Amino acid sequence: MSTDDYFLVNPDDLQTPALLVFPAVIHRNVDRMSSLLGGLDRIRPHIKTHKCKQVIRLLMGRGVSRFKCALVSEARLLIESGARDIQLAYPLVGPAVDRLAELVAEAEGVAVQVTVDDIGSARALEEAFERHDRTIDVLIDLDAGMHRTGIAPGPGAEALARAITAMPHLRLRGFHAYDGHIRESDVDARRPLVAAAMAEPLRMKRWLDGEGLCEGPARLSTSGTLSFIVAKDIDEIDEVTPGTWVFWDGAYNEIDGARFEFGGLVASRVVCRPGGNRLTLDAGSKGVSRDLPGPPIVVNRPGLVLGPASEEHQTAEWIGEGSVPEIGEVILLAPRHICTTVYLYSHFQVVEGGRVVDRWPIECQHGEVYRGAKDRSDGGAGS
Ligand SMILES: Cc1ncc(COP(=O)(O)O)c(C=O)c1O
Repeated sequence: MSTDDYFLVNPDDLQTPALLVFPAVIHRNVDRMSSLLGGLDRIRPHIKTHKCKQVIRLLMGRGVSRFKCALVSEARLLIESGARDIQLAYPLVGPAVDRLAELVAEAEGVAVQVTVDDIGSARALEEAFERHDRTIDVLIDLDAGMHRTGIAPGPGAEALARAITAMPHLRLRGFHAYDGHIRESDVDARRPLVAAAMAEPLRMKRWLDGEGLCEGPARLSTSGTLSFIVAKDIDEIDEVTPGTWVFWDGAYNEIDGARFEFGGLVASRVVCRPGGNRLTLDAGSKGVSRDLPGPPIVVNRPGLVLGPASEEHQTAEWIGEGSVPEIGEVILLAPRHICTTVYLYSHFQVVEGGRVVDRWPIECQHGEVYRGAKDRSDGGAGS
């Protein structure tokens, strides 16, 4: 982890807690990803980590041309950001089906694909796209062992494939299989687990090609930030879809070593010195997500050990050498889970050369329907 970027020239100006983004670090993460993959042609980054137009455009500027998302509002954000190849990998049910059809009908020249793991959902999709007189590319979502979404590979999935090819507004393109349950820290131990999780999806891909049921060669789209490092070496996997790597976080750092650098940090402040070497920071569970166990990592003050948090308070104890952090001092924290931490904020504070130089909105909050920047009156986040 390089800490050269993690300083603030005017910390007194910053209202805390604040979510900081370091574009220089993100660029270095892209450099690393590009050298690991031998270019960026085979990556489809998931945008759920940041939900941010400026980050999407940064990635596009670096040559990323395909993106993955989970929400229809994220697909809209991608289209508005200029993306032209979008995968929505989430079971679409209820009003979301029609919203996607509406979006695709509006978006000329954008390739949108959606995952499906159920015949009823496929029929609902077919009906919505018929109503809007459009077609949509479909990947069958296979359960690669995570048991979260996806149909089990085998006869049921084969029957679903045959049923989809009989639906005139759906175009079957292949398979999606996400293996986020594999969290083995030793890459050599991770390798056979990913290979085993991908064996059946690969067999299904060969089956689909053999049956000639697919438009063009069948595709297989897989993996997140821990498994892509293995999946990239399996030639038959067409693309990898990690998202967290763009920002990296404490949990992945613990599992995977410093494969990438922290591109997003929370700035907090010492607000209290209750006695002895004990301190309290202002980034509690409303400032740094606690959905994964364990505290965030202190980046700029080694020697500060974090304890339990409540909503607005993070307890800490100074066990380091030298001076105890003073009330008012800014402490930089790397969240254990960056995606859910980003979700707590309306915007990033963009830090370059130690200065906050811009604000980047974070979009697509649940309960809000992102309908594009032109519909927004506040010029800021969501609506
Ligand atoms: C379906 C799917 N694909 C890709 C990803 C990206 O994985 P990661 O967060 O490990 O980058 C996720 C993460 O939740 C996911 O749910």
